[in-house]
Amino acid sequence: MVTDLTEKQAREKILDQVSEYYIKYHVKDEYKDGDRISYAARIYDSQELINLVDSSLEFWLTSGRYTNRFEKEFAEFIGAKYCALVNSGSSANLLAFMALTSPLLGERAIGKDDEVITVAAGFPTTIAPIIQYGAIPVFVDVTIPQYNIDITLLEKAYTKRTKAVMLAHTLGNPFNIKAVNEFCHSHNLWLIEDNCDSLGSKYYYNGEWRYTGTIGDIGTSSFYPPHHMTMGEGGAVYTNNSFLSKIIRSMRDWGRDCECPSGVDDFCGHRFDRQYGGLPLGYDHKYVYSHFGYNLKATDMQAAIGCAQLKKLPDFIQKRKENFTFLYKNLLGASNKIILPETEKASDPSWFGFLITCSDARRNQIVEHLENNRIQTRMLFAGNLLMHPCFENMKRNAKGYRVIGDLVNTDRIMRDSFWVGVYPGMTEAMLTKMVNCIKDQI
Ligand SMILES: Cc1ncc(COP(=O)(O)O)c(C=O)c1O
Repeated sequence: MVTDLTEKQAREKILDQVSEYYIKYHVKDEYKDGDRISYAARIYDSQELINLVDSSLEFWLTSGRYTNRFEKEFAEFIGAKYCALVNSGSSANLLAFMALTSPLLGERAIGKDDEVITVAAGFPTTIAPIIQYGAIPVFVDVTIPQYNIDITLLEKAYTKRTKAVMLAHTLGNPFNIKAVNEFCHSHNLWLIEDNCDSLGSKYYYNGEWRYTGTIGDIGTSSFYPPHHMTMGEGGAVYTNNSFLSKIIRSMRDWGRDCECPSGVDDFCGHRFDRQYGGLPLGYDHKYVYSHFGYNLKATDMQAAIGCAQLKKLPDFIQKRKENFTFLYKNLLGASNKIILPETEKASDPSWFGFLITCSDARRNQIVEHLENNRIQTRMLFAGNLLMHPCFENMKRNAKGYRVIGDLVNTDRIMRDSFWVGVYPGMTEAMLTKMVNCIKDQI
């Protein structure tokens, strides 16, 4: 019973019990041959559970002290001035893109029918916001075995309507940021880095190593469980541009003009003394809207888990790199039969997975063999997004998107590529089993 305790003592008692609960019910047995080898999993200890329960006991629920802490610490980690926590990586992409449509950006705002250069080999919600808004995604091919944009096609894709480039760093492998950024600067375009699969990847830029997601105008992250760190559902949008940050926060928080944090009134001291739009002088600033926004905030419970995960992130990144290297070294002898992934120049990837391209239409056979041996596999998400039912209507009308050349490599990825995991929970026994099973079938 906790009735005779102070609130602080009661909380401590509960949190001690949470620690015990974690040890008794959450600590897993070591991997044995025959166990399933998943491509990714949450890695956590009692601290994530403690933070989660601590936050739920407070019952603040919406963004609060853990959110503030997470946004500050995440921004410090990644080297961005501003970070906004959101409820998913897809929401992060939506928000990043929509921020660039803000009328406050004047001529640089992305408008309907403006074009955004991207690739079709990837995850659908990198592209969905472009289409949903009514802008035109312009698809170019990727290279194999880097699986990133073919930068030689950038100029071909450019028209007077091009306003932005929006790309993911595929499975942790940074795209050629130098070339893409130079292209963007030369045409005055925005660059959104979808960093959802590459948290912790670095790129050598202007004489220093920088985290991906911080070199373009806006970067995005996902904290869905398979990703580099998790809070269940969650995402982040980050930038070094204070004006963009203001727009991002406005659009995340219902489109409002005011910057009061949740539960705070009159943060700026001018709640009732200004005039906006056609509103009467003194209209409550809390209810003044400078954008047509959303509510994309995460809960403080998610942020609480994120604060604990962030402390583990450097180790997670290191382990992912080691696991990738193990697979690479042990599969190198088979590189005449399968195409191994190649790190982009000037980069230090924090890998999300180990991507393989097969020859002779053997992909499905190899994948089946791995799955039969309880090794989980994944495709490069959509393969070629244009081949999916969601594109059928647009194809019928032959409008709403453009394709530059033929997407030969994108199609090949759809047919011949798959990936296996390198998440930090993998042991040498698991990795060895994966190597042997792949070698069995090639
Ligand atoms: C490249 C990329 N962008 C965006 C997302 C979307 O993230 P979420 O699942 O958090 O919405 C994912 C999901 O895995 C992804 O791989």
